Amino acid sequence: MSESGSRPVAAVVGGGNGIGATVCRLMHARGWRVAVADIDGEAAGRVARKLDGFGCALDIADEAAVEEAAERIEREAGPVAALVVSAAVFQDIVPAEDLPVDEWERILRVNLTGTLIANKAFGRRMVGRGRGSVVNIASIAAFSSMPAQAYGASKAGVVHLTRNLAGEWGHAGVRVNAVSPGSTLVPRVEARLDSGRYAAHPGEFTALGRMVEPNEVAEAVEFLASDRSSAITGQNLVVDAGWEIAATWAQFGGVRKF
Ligand SMILES: NC(=O)c1ccc[n+]([C@@H]2O[C@H](COP(=O)([O-])OP(=O)(O)OC[C@H]3O[C@@H](n4cnc5c(N)ncnc54)[C@H](O)[C@@H]3O)[C@@H](O)[C@H]2O)c1
Repeated sequence: MSESGSRPVAAVVGGGNGIGATVCRLMHARGWRVAVADIDGEAAGRVARKLDGFGCALDIADEAAVEEAAERIEREAGPVAALVVSAAVFQDIVPAEDLPVDEWERILRVNLTGTLIANKAFGRRMVGRGRGSVVNIASIAAFSSMPAQAYGASKAGVVHLTRNLAGEWGHAGVRVNAVSPGSTLVPRVEARLDSGRYAAHPGEFTALGRMVEPNEVAEAVEFLASDRSSAITGQNLVVDAGWEIAATWAQFGGVRKF
């Protein structure tokens, strides 16, 4: 994985909290030098300091700021070998007919356009060097119907954008993949569970009978970021504890329990 014995650099956008922060810790433990970027600059700094990495405040939806951050990260930390995009905003459950268009646009802007912006800024540099790996975090909401109109559409867009960029940049030695987590036990989701906002525990609906741990998503991300996945591009790796395959069992009373 390492380039000439030194730590390869990974930039993690949205690395200040949740899955992104776990990705930063796991990648550091596996020998990467991590640059952490997040709109929550304090959180990015906190994660970066513990990993002896580079942290910065960054709004992924701001193209000029992302371009500037890519330039700064490469100047201070070195050429970015892997980009991980974990930044996203979420939506409340509302009937589609009551969803404000402004809210739809805000979610699409951060989750989908932001992913494009980050992929462009770091991908251009990877293409110039003839190597690199991008991992965009999508979601099971990308391919399943649920009451999250804008969020689901944004994540479906992320998967499709990933496939398009993989086709476009493959000959330049740049791979682009997605990871789609199911319900993952990050502090934000734990708070939701505690507040009773879920009608039932998400783990009830998976084949494995439990939710996903952030580290399990991070393992998939690090695999796709590293040369261990050197022939894999344009794919969407689902890490959902078997949520997708268990869905069709509902009409038979749910998956078999032991
Ligand atoms: N946790 C889950 O159950 C779950 C399930 C499926 C997909 N995902 C996806 O995993 C990724 C991480 O989610 P999470 O659950 O860890 O959430 P989280 O809220 O803990 O982390 C998201 C991070 O993105 C940052 N962010 C938000 N807007 C930003 C912006 N404009 N610019 C830069 N950073 C921004 C936040 O500050 C935060 O640090 C997201 O892409 C999410 O859609 C999560």
